Order: sequence, then C-alpha cells, then structure tokens
Amino acid sequence: MRDAYCGTLNKADVGRKVNLCGWVYRWRDHGGVIFVDLRDTTGIIQVVFSPDYSEAAHKLAKDLGLEYVIRVEGVVKRRPPGTENEEIPTGEIELAAHSLEILNECKELPFNLDEEEPNENIRLKYRYLDMRRPQVQEIFKIRSRAYKIVRDYFFSKGFVEFETPYFTKSTPEGARDFIVPSRLNPGHFYALPQSPQLFKQILMVAGFDKYFQIARCFRDEDLRADRQPEFTQIDVEMSFVEVEDVIEVSEGLIRELVKGLKGKEIDTPFPRLTYDEAIEFYGTDKPDLRIDFKLIDITEVFYSTELGILRRVLDNKGIVKCVHLQKRNLSRKELDLSVEKAIELGADGLIWIKKEGNSYHSPVIKYLKEREIKELEDRLKLLDGDTIFIVAGMKEKVNEVLGKFRLYLGEKYCPLKTEDMRFVWITDFPLLEYSKEEKRYVARHHPFTSPAVNIKDFIGKPEEIKAKAYDLVLNGVEIGGGSIRIHRKDEQMQIFKMLNIEEEEARDKFGFLLEALEFGAPPHGGIAIGFDRLLMMLLGKKSIRDVIPFPKTQKGICPLTGAPSPVTKKQLDEVKIKISI
Ligand code: AMO
Repeated sequence: MRDAYCGTLNKADVGRKVNLCGWVYRWRDHGGVIFVDLRDTTGIIQVVFSPDYSEAAHKLAKDLGLEYVIRVEGVVKRRPPGTENEEIPTGEIELAAHSLEILNECKELPFNLDEEEPNENIRLKYRYLDMRRPQVQEIFKIRSRAYKIVRDYFFSKGFVEFETPYFTKSTPEGARDFIVPSRLNPGHFYALPQSPQLFKQILMVAGFDKYFQIARCFRDEDLRADRQPEFTQIDVEMSFVEVEDVIEVSEGLIRELVKGLKGKEIDTPFPRLTYDEAIEFYGTDKPDLRIDFKLIDITEVFYSTELGILRRVLDNKGIVKCVHLQKRNLSRKELDLSVEKAIELGADGLIWIKKEGNSYHSPVIKYLKEREIKELEDRLKLLDGDTIFIVAGMKEKVNEVLGKFRLYLGEKYCPLKTEDMRFVWITDFPLLEYSKEEKRYVARHHPFTSPAVNIKDFIGKPEEIKAKAYDLVLNGVEIGGGSIRIHRKDEQMQIFKMLNIEEEEARDKFGFLLEALEFGAPPHGGIAIGFDRLLMMLLGKKSIRDVIPFPKTQKGICPLTGAPSPVTKKQLDEVKIKISI
C-alpha cells in the first residue's frame, strides 16, 4: 500500500513520488490550501492539498477529520523558504498531494492526541489512542529494544532462557496469591507465580548452570505508583556462585541497558552499603544517594541536656539524630512548614537550629547549653545560612521518620535530576524479621535465602542473623533483589524450624523443592530485576503504568477491557464455585 514511511523522508527525497499511509494528526484549512500532518509509526510529514496539485484530492481533504486513516500519493517538495519547521525531522519538506484515499474514518475523539496529557483513566480506557501519540510510541519502542539488550547480554554470557509455568503452586515472595480454579480438579486451585523462584532453583538442580527469563509475575498486593499486580522481572539464577558473581553479572546488565537505551556509560562497580549502614545513614534500605546529606547521630552532644523533650528521650534510652541542610537560609515560614511536615511523617516533634551570621536561632535556643551549640558547630561544621533538623525518640522510629524527612528536604531543596543515576547495592540484610501480625519470625527475603553465618551461633538472637541477600537501589527505588540460596536440605529444614514452619507444612508447600535439594543440588544464587521499575526510572517516569502497555489502575482494574468482571453461572458451576456475596 505504501512505498515510504512519513518520518523517514528528508531533503534527499525531494522530487520523489511516494505513497504514504497513516493517520491525520492535525488538519488546517488555510483558505484554498489544506495542510494535514500525516503520522505513522516513524513520525510526521506535512501534506499539502491544493487545487493546483489535484482538485479531487483537495475536495476530498475537506472532509477529513482527526485520526482518519488515509493513503496519499504525492511528490516530495522543499517547503517554501521561511515555512520550515525545525521541531520535526521532516520540517524542511512537504508532500504535494496528487491523490487521496480514505481508508477509514474516526469518530469524535475522547481527547485530542496532540494535547499535553489527558486524564489517566481516559488514556487507559482508550490506550490504543493514547499509544498513537509519538511520545508513548517511543516508550514502547524503547521497551522493545530493552528486551533485545537483555537477551543479547545473557546469551553472550552463556545463559539459557526458559519459560516457567503460570499455573503453579504458591510461591514464597510473601504477597497474596492470585488463584485460578481447576475445572478438572474441582475444589483445587492453581496459584499464579509471584516469581519463578522455585522453578529457577529446580533448573539449577537440573544442571543448567545459568538461567534467565523475562518473566511475568503476579502478586495480589496493594498497588502504588511502582507496583502492579502483574509485572515483569528479569529473572536470573546461577550455579556455583557467590554474592560477588551475581552482583558482577547484574552490573554488566545494567551497564548494557543504560548504554543501549540512554547512550550513556556508567561506572561500575556500584557503591555498596550494608543494610545496617543504610538504616544508620539514610533511615531506609532504599536510599536516594542524589541527596547529599545523611542522618547524623548527635545523641552524645546532649548527654547532660536540660531540654525536657530530649532529657525524657535519653532517659528512656532513645537517640537524637539530625540532618544538616547547608546554606539554604530558610525563612521562618519554611522552618515552620518543615516542623509540620515532620509531624505529618510521624515525628513527635522537630527541633530546628539555624545559623545566621555568627548567631543561632531556634525555638528552643534558651534551653541549649553553650557547650552543646559549640559541639554541634564543630562536629557539623555549621556555616552561615545552614539549618539542622533534630528528631529524638526510639532508634527505629527516629531512623524511619528522619529518613523520610531527609527525602522531603531533598525533594524540596536539592534539584533531584532523573539523569543523575545513583545506583547502590544494599547487602547483608537481616535473614529474619519479626511479624507482629503472625507473632513469629518470617523470612525477610524468602525462606530459601542462605544465612551468611552459622545459625547455631545465634540461638536466642535470630534478629542478628545476616543473610547473603542483596538489593539493587536506584535513586531511592528498589529495582532488584536476590540472594544466595540454601542448597542443602538439612540447612533448609533448620531455617523452616526457626520460621515455625512445621515439616508437614513445608512438605505441602515446597515439598518438590525440598526433595530436589536431596538429589545433589549445587550451590546457587540469583537475582530478579524489576524490569518495569527499571524502565520507569531510566525514562524518568513517575509511574510504572507509563511503561506497561496495558496496566491496571490503583484499584486493579483494566479500564480498556473492564477486567475484572463477573462470570456466568455456567462458568462458576463448571469449576464448582458458589459466590457468597
Ligand atoms: P523481589 O520480590 O525482591 O524478589 O522482586 C524483585 C524485583 O521485582 C520488582 N517488583 C515489582 N515491580 C512491580 N510491581 C510489583 N508488584 C513488584 N514486586 C516486585 C522490584 C523488586 O526489586 N524471587 C525473588 C528474586 C530472587 O531472589 O532471585 C524476587 O522476586 O523491582
């Protein structure tokens, strides 16, 4: 139907006769001459319908509406001097239309594709229209290139690609499962995989040595801007490896992706922080390293404080920490606002101390000792215009609140550019964490994660056991996580015991893996990178919905198809299910 694409024509094609197909992106009648911006997947070209070129085509062009699908035959011409458009690659040329064929019409559009940003619900309901917009097309072409980069990378390193089942048994990532009833086995259900975790371990037992998969995962959890109920992981597993090997392979992949998608070389190895360091200095295991100040422990400064709130905290074995914002010379209004913000984030209060010239200002200044101020000044090297923000309380809470407050200050007062990519590995995670809900210890990563120590040395203090687990964080977002696995059944059973998982329960849930471990399982480990999250970050998007072709809304609904929806009684009867609402 066509012999050229709209966006690929240029000066060199002047004089060429071409057939183009595409959509009417813009339409203007300049009295006598009609201009159409014709768009296909490669870009836009201006088409001119004039009675001088063809009376019939010009007449028909009067009936064109936005997003009509047309075929135009014409000759590529140079635009008259002064009418060039530098903003588009074809801006120096236009097509003089000699014939026009309308291939399909388009009803009135729910939004103008040329507008800045339609409402997200409308965009997702009419995702096919939304996707016609050049900037959205670009996102999915980049996503497509990313698949190729991932595959090329892993193939070049001898990895084998697999597809693992979607209809499976519950997997251990800790979210709720999506379940699918089995018609052939009434009363029985498949669980959609939260990740291919168990299968990739089985593939190591099967001797494949290096596995990867661009894998769809399903998790029924509360949704956020960086969480979807179905999402994609770049899933990796390797045999006979230690933490360093997995980190090195992952860094290589990230380097290739950043180079291929953004044309940028990034430095590896990435910096690393242990989990304990991350919490100590950033109050979170997902630190945004673009913000250049840390949490500083200043408990010692206040050992003899007479300031009531600090005294009470210290008497209760609490701590005092601060963040130090340099130079900004905040106004009283900004300072008051920051107190409100800290309280909103969960602090009981926030003390600020500001240096102006050589003097200090603070709502509590009269309760602070000269020695305390001097010590703060020496330790923190306070200068004119600097402010420190102090939070006191129990350790966990102070870290959490001040960590969030650091982010607030960073977003408000430091220009955080998405171009500035600060990757960091967080290592040495605790193996277990106490679940208040379940009143027992649960695995922080998943129950197959290998401890980094001999657990027999930690009887009675399970929270101190570190794991061979690592997360990759980019600008405050967790984009990947993995671990070295337990490959011996006896060790695995010990861990289950610590987690209060009975042998029977373990057999019922993961029996096939436990059995496989008894048949000569090699040492192994791996990682999964959140593909959507990584793309979101590399493309500077605020939500992973922007990089997923057909995402769900915050409520788990697909506005395009209307899923989820009720099913017929017949369908329910077939799977022997009664609805009780
Ligand atoms: P984990 O549960 O940490 O590890 O997941 C790995 C990465 O997947 C991404 N991710 C998500 N992305 C979008 N929506 C979600 N709901 C969502 N949940 C997770 C994150 C996360 O870092 N089997 C292990 C990996 C391993 O041990 O090898 C696993 O799934 O970027």
